[in-house]
Amino acid sequence: MKMMKLPVERSDFPTLQNKIMLSSCSQSAPPQAVIDALDAYKYSLIESGMEWGEWIEHVEGARKNFAELISCDPEEVAILSSVSDAVSSVVNSLDFKDDEGICVTEIDFPCIGQVSLSKKLKQGVPVTFIPHQNHMMKKEDYEAAINENTKLTCVPHISYYNGFKQDIKMISDIAKRNDSLLLVDAYQSAGSVPINVKEMGVDILVAGLQKYLMGIPGITFLYIKKEISAEMIPAVTGWFGQSNPFAFDLKSTDYADSTRRFNTGTPPIVNAYAAEAALKYILNIGVDNIQAYLQELSSYTIEYAEQLGMKVASPRNSAEKGATTAIYVEHADKAETKLKEEGIVVSARKDIIRIAPHVYNTKQDIKRALDHLKEWT
Ligand SMILES: Cc1ncc(COP(=O)(O)O)c(C=O)c1O
Repeated sequence: MKMMKLPVERSDFPTLQNKIMLSSCSQSAPPQAVIDALDAYKYSLIESGMEWGEWIEHVEGARKNFAELISCDPEEVAILSSVSDAVSSVVNSLDFKDDEGICVTEIDFPCIGQVSLSKKLKQGVPVTFIPHQNHMMKKEDYEAAINENTKLTCVPHISYYNGFKQDIKMISDIAKRNDSLLLVDAYQSAGSVPINVKEMGVDILVAGLQKYLMGIPGITFLYIKKEISAEMIPAVTGWFGQSNPFAFDLKSTDYADSTRRFNTGTPPIVNAYAAEAALKYILNIGVDNIQAYLQELSSYTIEYAEQLGMKVASPRNSAEKGATTAIYVEHADKAETKLKEEGIVVSARKDIIRIAPHVYNTKQDIKRALDHLKEWT
């Protein structure tokens, strides 16, 4: 087995002292810098009691780092708690006329369908589910479903189920031809593949920190292109969405110019400390380097799983695949528990086990996980 040079020091990741972490599609191992950032918040409470100025600086630091990650202006980024919150805010803030509706792919994470269906139940907005073929989508599927009545098209950049990666520019071109806004759920791609929202033609993008971004739950970034957000009145709002939250003006609204207006109340401060540090760590390695390293691990995972006679549920072509590899396993939940007992953390969904490495993993980690999986199944 050819040794690969790790882009990071394994000793940077305390969790690796007693675990093989292969669960970046669910929770990756946070670097020491993230643990230190959590401590910094804790000590600010213990030592200073209250430190609003410093707390908000970290929230702004997180916003700036995320904007750098996806190549946009920090003013085009709002900070919310979850992808579900962010998508709910967007869907409820859009005005749907007459027959205008939402297209959602069948490979989207369930919350995207659930949020859209609540709009249907409350206001009769039509929701079309674009069918998948074996958990993958084709250009023709989008061409057939998106039309002039599609106000909003929702797609995942990378599927949470099998790591299928989509050509966002191709989907954006179809959406633009039909005057549809394109919302990309980048929770499974952010941190593992490069994202440039302007070049990819993305109107709206959401991503949390827990997966390939090496952070913790409780914080999500919402990008909306400024030309779009500036025209929108947020349906979910609060004082941090105003141009000056500290004006304390009860009787009028003065929304921030751009997407910052989608902020709501006091931001998730402790989560922002972790997010700022995690994003800095990712930016320092460089997402291009991360992608190149993960592609090699991904090819190895498929090759070795097939050598063991396992059935892979992910695409073979690396251009159509992110870092996660899904393997069909009977009783996937039990397999996840069994591997955890061996100190190997993987993630089950329905009928598959997801092997989701990051830059701190080696081929040996993957071999050990697959050998145990084979032994147990
Ligand atoms: C692609 C994707 N979108 C959304 C979610 C759910 O995000 P949240 O819990 O922040 O609403 C997940 C969680 O696994 C996910 O993988």
